[in-house]
Amino acid sequence: MAVERKNIYVTQPTLAPLGEVTEIMQRIWDSGIMTHNGPLVQQFEKETQAFLGCSNLVACTNGTIALQMAIRALELKGEIITTPFTFIATISSIMWEHCTPVFVDIDPETLNIDPDKIEERITCHTVAIMPVHVFGNACEIDRIDEIAKAHNLKVIYDAAHAVGVKYKGKCIFNYGDVSATSFHATKMLNTAEGGGVITRDKDIDEKLRRIRFFGFENHADIVEDGFNGKMTEVHAALGLANLKYLQAALDDRKKKYAIYKSELSRNASLSFQKITYDCNYSYFPLIFATEADLLKAVSALNAEGIYPRRYFYPSVNTFRKLVPYVSMPKSEDIASRILCLPLYYSLSEADMERIIKLIIG
Ligand SMILES: Cc1ncc(COP(=O)(O)O)c(C=O)c1O
Repeated sequence: MAVERKNIYVTQPTLAPLGEVTEIMQRIWDSGIMTHNGPLVQQFEKETQAFLGCSNLVACTNGTIALQMAIRALELKGEIITTPFTFIATISSIMWEHCTPVFVDIDPETLNIDPDKIEERITCHTVAIMPVHVFGNACEIDRIDEIAKAHNLKVIYDAAHAVGVKYKGKCIFNYGDVSATSFHATKMLNTAEGGGVITRDKDIDEKLRRIRFFGFENHADIVEDGFNGKMTEVHAALGLANLKYLQAALDDRKKKYAIYKSELSRNASLSFQKITYDCNYSYFPLIFATEADLLKAVSALNAEGIYPRRYFYPSVNTFRKLVPYVSMPKSEDIASRILCLPLYYSLSEADMERIIKLIIG
């Protein structure tokens, strides 16, 4: 009898057993509190901070809102330098906050913003730099910090991919003026939808909490230009249950990343993201020599019910509906040749072997 194989997608959420989630959720039914910075949101913030080694984590609705809260808290008005090799939310958050994204091309090896090119794009209108730790690969933080200090600019890290990453031994969220992360279903730690804003500055932390809650101070006066960015108790319950499995998920990703890399290295035309500092290996980006090679691999995988994802594709500077086109040759080239392979906790090593074989034969 033929065995029916399940389709394999680029990712699957890491989920705690349902019983552990409902046990925590019971507290919502007991308290009747579903939102408004409830006890589970506060516990999620505290336990996530303790696990990661940061403080002042403000949990919110999603990673896009986390970026917008960061821009608002720093009261930025003007040009924000960022990378074209990112997800659209990096750019849309800048634009929703009435700022202008200015692209700086990437280092084609690390896939992060190229610090050597940042100063060329600084003008009298530049107010901040918003680099992305692409695929959880830590940016050149010291260099970026130096440039920001020299030009009196703020730094917001788009750390949507970077849960669990360290830089020089410390949680990566401790760098820059503010970091914004995502707890989306596809991320290392998930609350289905969710995000977090992190800062070392207590005043900014308090401002972020007001922005998250319509701008209210103590449920009385409106003192900030805020909005509704609150995480719900239901999402926090899921996050608290999943947090217990975060270390196992990080260890599993690292092991699987190493398997993919060592096997796929046998084909000299394939290349990989260069990791200089630390990475959480949340994705497995594979760079082909040409787009034609990539399309050939995608067809072979799709024919077997395997669906990797062209990510990030296309390069965000090419979205002419949103931004005037400025050529970013490195980002556009990488975007045309990069493919993220399936990588998640429940992916079997047998399925990884099949994927590897279909790519390198
Ligand atoms: C680099 C980057 N920034 C921001 C976001 C937005 O996060 P969210 O989906 O939680 O809004 C994402 C989402 O995948 C992302 O990849």
